[in-house]
Amino acid sequence: MSDKRWDLIVLGAGPGGYVAAIRASQLGLRTLCIDRNPLPGGTCLHRGCIPSKALLESSRFFANVRDAATLHGVVVPEPSLDLAAMMQRKQGVVDRLSKGIQGLFKRNGVTHLTGTARILESGKIQISESDGSVREEESARILVATGSRSIDLPMAPFDGGHIIDSSTALTLDRVPKHLIVIGAGVIGLEMATIWRRLGADVTIIEALPEILPGVDPVLIRNAKRLFRKQGLVFATGQRLIESRVEAESDKVMVWCENDKGERTEYSGDKVLVSVGRKPNLEESGLRQLGIACDPSGRVIVDDDFQTSLPGIYSIGDITPGPMLAHKASEEAIVAVERMAGKESRIDHDLIPSVVYCQPEIAMVGMTESDAKALGRAVNTGQFPLLASGRAQTAADADGIIRIVADAESDEILGVQILGREASELIASATVAIRSKMTSRQLAETIVSHPSLAETLKEAALLVTGKAIHL
Ligand code: NAI
Repeated sequence: MSDKRWDLIVLGAGPGGYVAAIRASQLGLRTLCIDRNPLPGGTCLHRGCIPSKALLESSRFFANVRDAATLHGVVVPEPSLDLAAMMQRKQGVVDRLSKGIQGLFKRNGVTHLTGTARILESGKIQISESDGSVREEESARILVATGSRSIDLPMAPFDGGHIIDSSTALTLDRVPKHLIVIGAGVIGLEMATIWRRLGADVTIIEALPEILPGVDPVLIRNAKRLFRKQGLVFATGQRLIESRVEAESDKVMVWCENDKGERTEYSGDKVLVSVGRKPNLEESGLRQLGIACDPSGRVIVDDDFQTSLPGIYSIGDITPGPMLAHKASEEAIVAVERMAGKESRIDHDLIPSVVYCQPEIAMVGMTESDAKALGRAVNTGQFPLLASGRAQTAADADGIIRIVADAESDEILGVQILGREASELIASATVAIRSKMTSRQLAETIVSHPSLAETLKEAALLVTGKAIHL
């Protein structure tokens, strides 16, 4: 406890900030959480993870009724789309979850304030409220969790109409005829999946030779074939160099160039620019205070998540590592628990990641090439979903599961999944790696039949021996 009014002021009420505020209050710290948006939840809840997953679910439902009903012996007339109702359902989910966080703030005794906060110096912030009033608050510690925003390209600046970011792509009021996606990363693939399922032609342009940088090449090879079957068109090795909105035809023209300097022209009615995100450091005053950043512009923190400025802490997208909600939330808990004198730690090498395309892609730990780059000899096991009874019953058996284990100790180092429910299965893989399981121990674990978990067991059997169902 300090002589200041607050023990902790948290800037930002996203999955980093709101989790930090709740945990801090639970630990007895007098906590103030400030966000510009009166509705807590941040980008993840209002413009990111949650609305995108709501639309992914709805669009999957629509596409399944349209494309797969007869396969299951269900005869329905050609379905039509009520996009407004779909968007309304999505908004309902967002609103409910945001109210839930407000309730959690109340129950845990977090003071939540709407306004824009700027750090004046260590221990002191200025808050500008929406009615124009300005006030100052003091706290022994300030935790900055202000997140990130989409990178804007000068040759294709966001205009909210023709050239859009992912937030706008989640609120369109009609299905584009031709959506051009710049950047085949996580956001590009998820948005492409939603709008393709709802009927848009989609072309995905990627500067690198391959889509989804960082994902295991074996998964990519399989995934790309399946994405193409859904009608997604890829143009890899193409860097965006120019764009022009043509108001009369309501079209956007896009020009790309490959390594040889050859130009290709594309035209569509919407262009989504999803070429990465950058940390929000300006409004909070961090940049002006001269905070130390790494070469990629992220705030450098120590094991306590303290920045180069005493008493100022940072977590989530503004610090190094993947820009993921669950990374921010875990850092929040660890940072706050350490403030309260606990020995908490985060293992940054064990953060699962998921792309919610179809099939889903999920990964945790090392890929085979990561391990080899570190000079580690590995064994791998790879099992196809085609051989899974559960996947067959669901008529959704596209995909593979891969396990990478240390050749000597047999300890599991990483798991990569392409397939149905990969986002859920990856949690078991994470538990296995965290508890230092060997592939043999995983193979000996009894799982229910029929279940997709059997694919994890079978892949584990393949690491050092033979699967039963292959
Ligand atoms: P990203 O970094 O995943 O992908 C951006 C892609 O754009 C890269 O492949 C890059 O090579 C390409 N690119 C860059 N400049 C280009 C140009 N001029 N022309 C053509 N291609 C170009 O970034 P993304 O997809 O915007 O996602 C940002 C962050 O949000 C990621 O860190 C991701 O982890 C996070 N996120 C995570 C989600 C999840 O966990 N499911 C969902 C959405 C976002």
